[in-house]
Amino acid sequence: MKNALKRGLFVFIAVLLVPVFTLAADPGLMAKGKAIYEQECQSCHLESGKGAGSIPDIRGLSARALAESKCGKVNKKPKEEVEALSAYLVSLK
Ligand code: HEC
Repeated sequence: MKNALKRGLFVFIAVLLVPVFTLAADPGLMAKGKAIYEQECQSCHLESGKGAGSIPDIRGLSARALAESKCGKVNKKPKEEVEALSAYLVSLK
């Protein structure tokens, strides 16, 4: 009985963790973010994401940092687009 409980808990935790890891490196999400970036961000933040002059480097920013930023181009976007953009920005070196 105790073992069955442990196994159940293990499966439960595993099921919870799977989406967390797949989301972290979802190629579809990254591709979507790249497409949005190229159309709506690249003109200012440059292809590299490094920016220049008064345009900040936005590589590696989390979805939360994007949503809370002052940049009107990103902080009003729907959550899924912000997450896609973040997945792409995290991939930039
Ligand atoms: C018209 C030019 C322009 C475009 C297009 C643009 N940005 Fe910006 N962005 C700026 C400028 C200028 C700043 C710095 C001043 C500010 O925070 O408003 C900035 C700041 C930011 C910041 C804050 C960075 C920090 O470290 O505080 C983030 C994040 C950001 N932009 C993301 C984006 C994303 C994502 C897109 C595309 C959806 C985008 N921006 C499109 C001009 C632009």
